[in-house]
Amino acid sequence: MAPHKTLVNRRVLVGITGGIAAYKVPDLVRRLKDEGADVRVVMTPGAQEFITPLTLQAVSGHPVGTTLLDEEAEAGMGHIELAKWADLILVAPATADFMARLVGGLANDLLTTVCLASDAKLAIAPAMNQQMWANSATQDNLQQLKQRGVSIFGPGVGSQACGDIGAGRMLEVLELVELAANSFESGELAGKTVVITAGPTREPIDPVRYISNHSSGKMGYAIAQSALDAGAKVILITGPTQLQPPDRAHCVNIETAEQLLDAALQYSAQADVFIATAAVADYRVAHQHSHKMKKTDNNLTLELVQNPDVLATVSASETRPMFVVGFAAETNDVLNYARAKLDKKGLDAIVANDVSRPGIGFNSDDNEAYWIDDTSQVHLGRRSKHALARHLVSLIAEKTNNNK
Ligand code: CTP
Repeated sequence: MAPHKTLVNRRVLVGITGGIAAYKVPDLVRRLKDEGADVRVVMTPGAQEFITPLTLQAVSGHPVGTTLLDEEAEAGMGHIELAKWADLILVAPATADFMARLVGGLANDLLTTVCLASDAKLAIAPAMNQQMWANSATQDNLQQLKQRGVSIFGPGVGSQACGDIGAGRMLEVLELVELAANSFESGELAGKTVVITAGPTREPIDPVRYISNHSSGKMGYAIAQSALDAGAKVILITGPTQLQPPDRAHCVNIETAEQLLDAALQYSAQADVFIATAAVADYRVAHQHSHKMKKTDNNLTLELVQNPDVLATVSASETRPMFVVGFAAETNDVLNYARAKLDKKGLDAIVANDVSRPGIGFNSDDNEAYWIDDTSQVHLGRRSKHALARHLVSLIAEKTNNNK
């Protein structure tokens, strides 16, 4: 099987419920890992009647979650943390009972609780006796889950462990891996070119010193990944970060705001969407020293001159992309300042967040933001930067597809 690049570095939480097909799940975990995914496993009590947590721990390389109220497990990766960690929750096999509990919004074991507490994509691979599958209760539950956006993988048709023949077999492991990979590709931005600026800039003072900021680049990189998943061609223009750029992005490394501007103008000329997440230094040193500056007995005054506003320049350029999105990092009066930036920089939308709040914004894994455009304002409550990125990409896709 050709490797699915979409699964590289993906965090897949495999949930196992109590069906005979549970015996196939160690192989599923192994195959997902072969494709580059980081896999963790949660098992219901029913699942443990068919297969042991130890087996799953061995193949996944991580402790397996089995109970909600386990002090030791909570001290490691607690259930809320696990829910936030996942990019995809894949429940395989999913029993009729599990489907019913999911529909009911129950949180009476670890797996249902994690599903409820997560905004990751959720997919289930039903497996049950054909009569149970055909039962109108199960079929009603199925419709509800579909309406809520849960992906349904299978079930397959064929001979069953109980001797019946019909629909209700869990799909084969390789089919599940294929569908898991495909679930990361929405196609919402297929055919579009997206340029993203990310990370900090560095403004040199002399050959060994510079002015910079705490931007980690996480938000921009997460958007790059989501745009790729949505089928876009992605150019990521990035300042220095500790992050691994997404596999399929074309990465352009820059250091200064002026280099960022050159790259942004060059690449945005052929782009449909421009997204500026970079934390660009507003000033640079007027006179850069070509040799390392020596300490003197006096204080030092550096003259700083303004840097170009990359976002505003791209937005005002003759080759302006169809849709231009800025970010606004504010510490107070967030919405008003953001609206002012939307107008002043001539943007189609701005994503505003309050960087004074602990746990979100600069350097953290989570973010909370407002999306503001001419006609709408959407509050995007606190979630992982990856989940926020997916939502932003959907909003951008919706707007750009309407503008066609
Ligand atoms: N931006 C840019 N070039 C700059 C400064 C900012 O492209 N020289 C972009 C950022 O990438 C972000 C948006 O402009 O998308 C807003 O950045 P922010 O730092 O919040 O705003 P500033 O315009 O710098 O305004 P202020 O510092 O006064 O809040």
